[in-house]
Parts: sequence; C-alpha cells; structure tokens
Amino acid sequence: MLDTIQSASSDFDSALAAANTVPALDELRVRYFGRKGGLIPELFSRLKEVPKEQKKDVGDALNKLRDRLEVELKEKSERVASEEATRKDARSLIDVTLPARQPRLGHLHPITLVRQEMEQIFREMGYSVDPGPEIESDWFNFQALNFTPEHPARDTQDTFFLDVKPKDEDVPYLLRTHTSNTQIRSMLQSRPPIKVVTAGRVFRRDEITMRRSPMFHQLEAFLVDKGIHIGHLRATIEHFVHRLFSEDAKVRLRPSFFPFTEPSAEVDMSCVFCSGNGCGTCSQTGWMEILGCGMIHPQVLRNVKIDPDEYSGFALGLGLDRVAMLKYGVPNIRTLFENDLRVLNQF
Ligand code: DAH
Repeated sequence: MLDTIQSASSDFDSALAAANTVPALDELRVRYFGRKGGLIPELFSRLKEVPKEQKKDVGDALNKLRDRLEVELKEKSERVASEEATRKDARSLIDVTLPARQPRLGHLHPITLVRQEMEQIFREMGYSVDPGPEIESDWFNFQALNFTPEHPARDTQDTFFLDVKPKDEDVPYLLRTHTSNTQIRSMLQSRPPIKVVTAGRVFRRDEITMRRSPMFHQLEAFLVDKGIHIGHLRATIEHFVHRLFSEDAKVRLRPSFFPFTEPSAEVDMSCVFCSGNGCGTCSQTGWMEILGCGMIHPQVLRNVKIDPDEYSGFALGLGLDRVAMLKYGVPNIRTLFENDLRVLNQF
C-alpha cells in the first residue's frame, strides 16, 4: 500500500507538470479527488484492508499525500487561471480587427462645396477656372463693362472704395461689386475661343438682412467664340441647372437689362421646393430667379479689342449664397457666414 501511495505521488507530480490549462487541471482534480472513482478517496477506502500494525503509517502517508496534492493543485490552478485572464485581457486591449480611429479632419464650408460643384459642371464643358482679383479698378469693374461714370446701374451696386487711386485715374480702387470684372481681365489676357468660369467674394454697401450681406459670393461664366448665339446660352444654362438641381427642373428666360449684355435676361427655374406647383418659398409663382445673363455687348468686346463682327459671346452670373441656401434649405444668409460649428458640422 505504501508503494501504491508512493507511485500515486510521483504520477501526480508528472501529471501536474503536464497540466497547463484550466480544463486540464480540472480534469486532474477529478482524477485524484473526484467523489466517484477519484484516486485519493479510493485509497482512503482501501485503508480498511490494511493490516492493523501498518494502519497508522499508511494513514499518515495518505493524509500527507492528500494535503500536498490539494495544496499544489490549488496553487497551480490559481496561477494558470490568472495567467489566462491576463492573456485574455491583453488580447482584448489590442484588438487588431478594430477599424483605425479616424483622424479629426476639417471639412469644407457649404459655400465652398457649392462653388466646387458648380465649377466642376463648367469644367466638364471645357471652361477653365479663373478667380480674378477682389480689389479692382473702376475701369475693370464698371467702365469696361459699359457702366459709364454716371450710369444709373451703378446705383444697384453701392460700392466700397479704398483710399488708394490707380495711376492716372480719378476713381480710387474698389472692392469688386460683382465677378464680371473677370470677363474683362480674361478677354484682355487671351484671344477667343475663351471659356472661363470664375467664382468668389463680391462686396456691396448693403445692410445685413435675412437675404443680403455686404459680402457675398458670385459665380460668373462666359464664352466668346465665332457664331455664338442665344441658343448656346440657353442650352448651357439648362445643362447647368439640370446638373446642379435636377433633370426635371424647368428654365425660363425673362427679358432684363444689364449694361454689359445685349440682349439681357433673367433666368428663373421651377421652384425646387414645390416643383413648380406654387409654395411659400416661391411666393406661389412656381418659379425662382437664379441668374442673370445675356449676349456680351458689342461695346464690351470692342473695349477689350475683340472684333464684334467676327466674334460673339454670352455671359451669366449668379449668387452662390442663394444657391447654397436653396440647396441646403438655409433660410438666413447670415447662417452661412457666422461660422457656428453647430451649422458647419452638418456639411
Ligand atoms: N454682374 C451682375 C450683377 O452682379 C450679374 C450678371 C448679370 C452677370 C448678367 C452676368 C450677366 O455675366 O450676363 O448683378
């Protein structure tokens, strides 16, 4: 019996050394201590077969074995369980399958988004982009565009003047009141065919209201070539409106006046909110005004040394802010310029 105890003891040592997981150690515990068939209880049950004079020694040896095995099993089980938990923790701390954290990037202002979208539509039609200067002389902003010094149309573009005068001119530099100055600059710089789109800030001495601001944005597109007529203008506008808003949008031209175009027109499109049925936004008319346009006035061509008998062209101009307001459903123009993050973060 003492031999049996001895070999049970050394068997246990090698089994314990081999058991390195929680389930393996559980199995070992059952093998040695299980109520049914466990080796230790079985050895104890065989104690009654041991001759009287050996009982004490065998009993002592058995008790010792049980105590040692219990302690060692417990120690190793706890150690292995805690090691496994640590390993699991480490695995869950570094989860390589997680998507990478996105860096916090800035994003584009709604006006910029609309400007880029519009420029892209014209780019696809072969136009090049030229932003033009914001500080301009009277000649480029007005005179070359047929606004003579006393022209009444100047009243609609109440102007911010700077303190500095260009050389040999009476009128000081000014902040451009429209993007049409770029027409003159582009036509002086290159010869037809010319296809340019320009967009940027313009300035007028206006009160700040829901729909007006002393600084706002315009987009201007113009084309000069041989044989250009109003049909080209209309087709260009329709394509532009369809791409920007919807293929179903309808367009109509109403006669109007601008000093630098002849004939001139204002363009309405069917209301984007009611599809032309009439609603509060379009004052029940079903139409919304979106741009001004016309055939470039022969005198403007002459001003930039382009022969109007050989070449003709069209121009169109629109308020970017108004289009952004329509596109994004912003009722107040100030919302676009206040840099309120609650607004900007929506784009
Ligand atoms: N420059 C005009 C304005 O600010 C808008 C405009 C009208 C531009 C007709 C054009 C055009 O190119 O053809 O009121």
